[in-house]
This record gives sequence, C-alpha cells and structure tokens, in this order.
Amino acid sequence: MKTSHFQPDQTSLAYSVGITLDRFIKLKQSDFPFASGELSQLLRDIALAAKIVNRETNRAGLANIGGAFGQTNVQGEEQQKLDVIANIRFMRALSKGGEVCAIVSEEEDAVIDLQNNSGKYVVAIDPLDGSSNIDVNISIGTIFSIYRRKSPIGSPIQLEDIMQPGREQVAAGYVLYGSSTMLVYTTGCGVNGFTYENSLGEFFLSHPDIQAPKTGNIYSINEGLQLEWENGISAYIQSCKNQKMQSRYIGSLVADFHRNLLKGGIYLYPATLKNPSGKLRLLYEANALAFIIEQAGGKASDGKQRILDIQPESLHQRTPLLIGSVQLVEEVEQSVAFHLGLVTV
Ligand code: AHG
Ligand code: MN
Ligand code: MN
Repeated sequence: MKTSHFQPDQTSLAYSVGITLDRFIKLKQSDFPFASGELSQLLRDIALAAKIVNRETNRAGLANIGGAFGQTNVQGEEQQKLDVIANIRFMRALSKGGEVCAIVSEEEDAVIDLQNNSGKYVVAIDPLDGSSNIDVNISIGTIFSIYRRKSPIGSPIQLEDIMQPGREQVAAGYVLYGSSTMLVYTTGCGVNGFTYENSLGEFFLSHPDIQAPKTGNIYSINEGLQLEWENGISAYIQSCKNQKMQSRYIGSLVADFHRNLLKGGIYLYPATLKNPSGKLRLLYEANALAFIIEQAGGKASDGKQRILDIQPESLHQRTPLLIGSVQLVEEVEQSVAFHLGLVTV
C-alpha cells in the first residue's frame, strides 16, 4: 500500500495555532514537586471561569450588567455588577473543583471556608480588577494567587494557611480582558502567556518564557495624586520626566502591569495621604504580580522591602507597590531611601 507522511511544517498556508493551555499545563505538571495533578486541575478551573467572565465582559454593554451593583465591599468601594458576577463565577469554579479549602476575595469580607478539609490549596483573588474601567470599554482583569495550605490536609483550615507571605505562592497569574484576552501565569518556573481564541474557545500559548526588560521607558502612576506622595516618589517621577520617559496609566493594574512587563517600565502606587499604606491589596493584587515579575526577571518592592517578604497581618491589607523593570524599581527605592535620609551620596 502506498502511504505518505503528513509534514506539518510543509506549508505556511495553514498556520499553526500552537499549544493549548490545557496541554501546556499537563506538559509542565512534572515541574512541580510532588505533582499529583491537583494544581494542574486548579489552574484549569481558573481558566474555565476566566472564559466565562470573558464572555460576560464582552456582552456587558448589551446584557444590562454594566454599572453599579448598589452595594459597597468591605473596603468601602462601590461594587460594580461585573465585580459581583466575576466573584460568583470564580467562587463557583474554585469551590466545585475540590482542590481548594479556602478563598480570600476582594469582594468577600471574611475568608470563605469551603468546608473541604481535603483541599490542599488556598486561593486569593481579585475577581475583577480595574472596575472603574468596565463601563468605558477599557481593559480589565482578574488576579489570582495560589498557596499550599500549612495545616495538615484533612483538618479544618487555620489562620496560618491564609496569612502566608507571597514568597510561599506555588502559582499566580492574571487574566487580561483587553483587545485580546490573555492568561499569564507562573508556577515558579518562568512566566508564560496564553491568548484566547474566541472561535475555538481555547487559550493558546502565545508568549512563552516572558522576560521583563531590565530597564524601560515607561512610568505608570496616577499623577493627580502627586501632592500626596512622599518626596522620594516625587523626585523619582521628576527624574522620569527629565529623561523624557513615556507616561502611560490605564487605571487597571493588570493592564498597566502587563504592558510594562512586555515593554519595560515601572508601575507605582505609592502611599498617599488618603491611603497611607497605599491602595493596592497585598494578598490578591500585589503578591501575585510580584511573583510573576520576579519570575520574569523584574522586581517588586513597597519602597523599603521586597513585596514577597511582607508578612500579612490582615485579609484586606494594603501595600505601596513599585513594580516592573529591575533597574527602574531599584532607582525609585534609592530615591525613597535618600529622601528618608537612609542613604547619603
Ligand atoms: P479594583 O478595581 O480591583 O478595586 O482595583 C483598582 C485598582 C487598580 O486596578 C488600579 O491600578 C488602581 O486601583 C487605580 O487607582 P486610582 O484610580 O486611584 O489611580
Ligand atoms: Mn484590583
Ligand atoms: Mn477588583
């Protein structure tokens, strides 16, 4: 019988769509110590919820799910309908999957104890980041951190399972609902980005082994608050202007972070008079992005210490956040230290 072999690279007419997120997670499973497949399943659960939130985000303008929900969260912020919807979608995905014992969410006052004592993992999540941009068609996101519980599997959850410093994360990621939808994650072995193919309903590997440029030309900060910054931050931003760096600020942390991760730059949300500990939350905003940026060769600091070394003391704790290209973060740290009189030149 006459046979022939299919040669995938034979023609460029039909381009390859590449490797799906599911397959990638499976291939990488052996990278985790004591891999049993549960973390892989958890990542897949998150990806599925992200697809659903992506769908809801896309039709928000038509489905009467834009605008305010009419309640405030524990931090006194007005909840948008999509904040609440995204929270429900991720809560359902995480609670039905069976791998998780507890969830911390921006939209929930207290820890959600799933009463699943056999669950190995704790998840901290900002289900919808950049809420103020929902109704104006600007990129928004989801941010998640995954920790292995400290207390024995099979026992009720303890505070020590929740209050872990960011360096204990076993995985973290974000979803960007933007001009295309992307999921970017790390399990501590580099950072990989996947782009969603709407018609196929799959995330495909599009940004393998992301490396943050060591320096960059972009600074991202809410400059309207300049009068509220400490001197070290003001001096640093002035030096960015002196160098004619580009100012880019979307107001969705995920989107600002993602751009700077790929292009090189720094994102800053420092302490202000209104928010003396900064605005962003340690457990479900700063830690995940700090883990990702370090895995990509960048840096994340609160101005004085590494974000991943901060010992959390409360669930919705805030932190100043200076994050991005390593050289730029070190420059702003030096500026802060100099103006506090901690270093002299
Ligand atoms: P969230 O929508 O989850 O509350 O987060 C909003 C955050 C972050 O996404 C963004 O970078 C920052 O708030 C913007 O704050 P300002 O409007 O004060 O600049
Ligand atoms: Mn947020
Ligand atoms: Mn949010």
